[in-house]
Amino acid sequence: MNYKLIGPITQLISMEKVSTKGAVKDEDLSILENSGILIKEEKIHRIGKFSDLKKEVDLQYTEVIELSADFVCLPGFIDAHTHICFAGSRANDYAMRNAGKSYLEIAEAGGGIWDTVTQTRKAAQQELTCATVKRSNILLKRGITTIEVKSGYGLSVPEELKMLRAIKDADDNTEADLITTCLAGHMLPKDFDGDHKTYLKTMSEELFPILKEENLTNRIDAFIEKSAFLPSDIYPYFEKAKEMGFDITVHADQFSTGGSEVAVKINAISADHLEASTEDEIELLSKSNVIAVALPGASIGLGCAFTPARKILDAGGAIAIASDWNPGSAPMGDLLTQACILGTFEKLSNAEVLAGITNRASAALNLKDRGKLVTGMLADFNLFQTDNFNEIFYHQGKLVPSQVWKKGDLVYNQ
Ligand code: NIG
Ligand code: FE
Repeated sequence: MNYKLIGPITQLISMEKVSTKGAVKDEDLSILENSGILIKEEKIHRIGKFSDLKKEVDLQYTEVIELSADFVCLPGFIDAHTHICFAGSRANDYAMRNAGKSYLEIAEAGGGIWDTVTQTRKAAQQELTCATVKRSNILLKRGITTIEVKSGYGLSVPEELKMLRAIKDADDNTEADLITTCLAGHMLPKDFDGDHKTYLKTMSEELFPILKEENLTNRIDAFIEKSAFLPSDIYPYFEKAKEMGFDITVHADQFSTGGSEVAVKINAISADHLEASTEDEIELLSKSNVIAVALPGASIGLGCAFTPARKILDAGGAIAIASDWNPGSAPMGDLLTQACILGTFEKLSNAEVLAGITNRASAALNLKDRGKLVTGMLADFNLFQTDNFNEIFYHQGKLVPSQVWKKGDLVYNQ
């Protein structure tokens, strides 16, 4: 059988007319009623009325999968920012933070990013692969069919390579697509003998060529913050990365500003976090092609402000929403729940929340083949048992997909 036809689907949200930037209205979602999806191999061949498609297909070559309840079909979700390759737990950091301890006190007690670096360095590559597969499958069951995964807990050439190879192996062992990013610029490792600039220079000279040789990633990220790297440290690093053909993404404006300006100047694909962005950064980002990525999981995990998503959209910018799942600032790792919560606080329409975890998230990863349900795109989609797409957001993550389809195959059915 070359084709699969699935339907009838009560509401199929194709997102065909949703642009990358600016506010989104429900009308932009292109909701098709009583529809069907015709799949050929990995891709969407056609979308249309189920009854019409059924009459038109050649039944000799088409497997028809008839649904017998109400379903809403959404594009597969895309989590464009995670750190799910890690070892250990930072439950003690969380407890200390909520008991009023400062960042410094937590770091002095052995917590913070460096704790995860220490644990991750101790783990074998195979253990990291298993942990990453396990977390990817948790996300997949919740409808996330594409997951970006960063390194950044290795912070030396061999340890960053170990992480990125582990993520690549994890990609071979989960149905979700894992998109790797090198975050060697996460912090200056405590055991590096030299300053911030020297560390970044070493990484760009010694690590970047191996990333290319082994095809480990085409994305370079860095954390721009007083406690990590300053804009002046980062420019030569990003320039070198760009010269070598890498896409750039930035941890920007999480606690203080400076990062989003770098992202715009360097023409990064995305600037992520932005909890501390002011009117100046909002204007700068909105006028650029940089996708702003809100990370509500980090706001919830740290008890901080949310990214000013409403203001960015109203200024004409692009908002993607990602989980930032990591052991420190964002331990929850539930994208749909977090996106819905961001929606309530920032007054985002359901259409804007959905765009943030589908087509705008694909733009944050510079992927052109997913994020909408239209002919030629990957057949990545979720079926939720309900007759109204608003129910999915109303339940704030409690309503999970009954079926998850990835590249034309049913990969999860509950
Ligand atoms: O995106 N901001 C820096 N990096 C991560 C936190 C990583 C960690 O705490 O382990 C973030 O929030
Ligand atoms: Fe992050």
